[in-house]
Amino acid sequence: MSFRVQPAPPARPNRCQLFGPGSRPELFPKMAASAADVVNLDLEDSVAPDAKEAARANVIAAINGIDWGRKTVSVRINGLDTPWWVRDVVDIMEQTEGRLDRIMIPKAGNAADVYAVDAMVSAIEQAKLREKRVGLEVIIETAAGLVNVNEIAAASPRLQAMSIGPADYAASMGMQTTAIGGTQEGYYMLAPGEDAARARHYADPWHYPTVAIVAACRAHGILPVDGPFGDFSDAEGFRAQARRSATLGMVGKWAIHPSQVALANEVFTPAPAEIDRARRILAAMEQARQAGAGAVTLDGRLIDLASIRQAEVIVRMADLIAAG
Ligand code: COA
Ligand code: MG
Repeated sequence: MSFRVQPAPPARPNRCQLFGPGSRPELFPKMAASAADVVNLDLEDSVAPDAKEAARANVIAAINGIDWGRKTVSVRINGLDTPWWVRDVVDIMEQTEGRLDRIMIPKAGNAADVYAVDAMVSAIEQAKLREKRVGLEVIIETAAGLVNVNEIAAASPRLQAMSIGPADYAASMGMQTTAIGGTQEGYYMLAPGEDAARARHYADPWHYPTVAIVAACRAHGILPVDGPFGDFSDAEGFRAQARRSATLGMVGKWAIHPSQVALANEVFTPAPAEIDRARRILAAMEQARQAGAGAVTLDGRLIDLASIRQAEVIVRMADLIAAG
């Protein structure tokens, strides 16, 4: 470890962030009753321009009126390039009680975007004597967001989570796709050889921004989150993408339909066998420590001091989820 120790991310489960349009308040009680760790009430792209004002009022009423249990409650405001975001922040901060946990900033392009919202949230918190500090989360979904991902991650002590937004990201990057996340038809290599029927190997076009986000988040103690998977009829496709982002270090994934909540929870909850192995690694390394050894063998494989840190990631996650 560097002299600067890596900060721990917020200790709250964040396996699934379930979204619902602010213009469909009939969905809010269903979101509250779901198994998602986080609910995101949306004022941005799932709400038509003419419905923005009504959606804002719906969301405020829902934050104050619905029993959200232990969920993290977040509102996605409109982008800083729109006429709506200022009123979104002001009204939500002024007209809700203490149940609001996070404000999500879409299309964050640089640290100043986060700074602007932070300054406004801070001023209203002070003016209204709000006791609970509202957190922020951002979506990295533009070329600017990707190239400035590190300064965005460092922009505010309020920042708790960062998601990848594949649809806007694809548009901003000029990618030839209209799908929201997942495998892309055109993104493959052919197996070697002359054979006309050479196998196609589909790679992951979201790999680079995913790893960039995970690294920026981990360096600054923020939760990295995989974004939406648009084809909610494709459970296996969702699982595959979620598994790969879990493998790369993300802690959860969005759900844009209730059918995706269980899938996200399944993938981002460490499996019992995995937890058991992690605990056995910790036990074996404790024995090794007592015997004065740094590296030993467990189940025919090398484990050493780094294995302790790997195992602790899994055990910490399992404990956090068990604590609910
Ligand atoms: N949260 C909670 N419940 C939801 C829901 C959501 N986001 N979306 C749908 N449901 C409910 C429906 O009300 C319905 O409930 P019922 O069985 O009690 O009647 C059930 O789940 C099945 O819904 P379905 O008919 O399949 O969906 P729909 O056609 O009503 O809506 C979408 C489909 C995709 C338009 C809707 O799920 C949606 O708006 N998702 C969120 C979009 C969003 O927020 N995007 C922004 C982030 S990318
Ligand atoms: Mg978007």
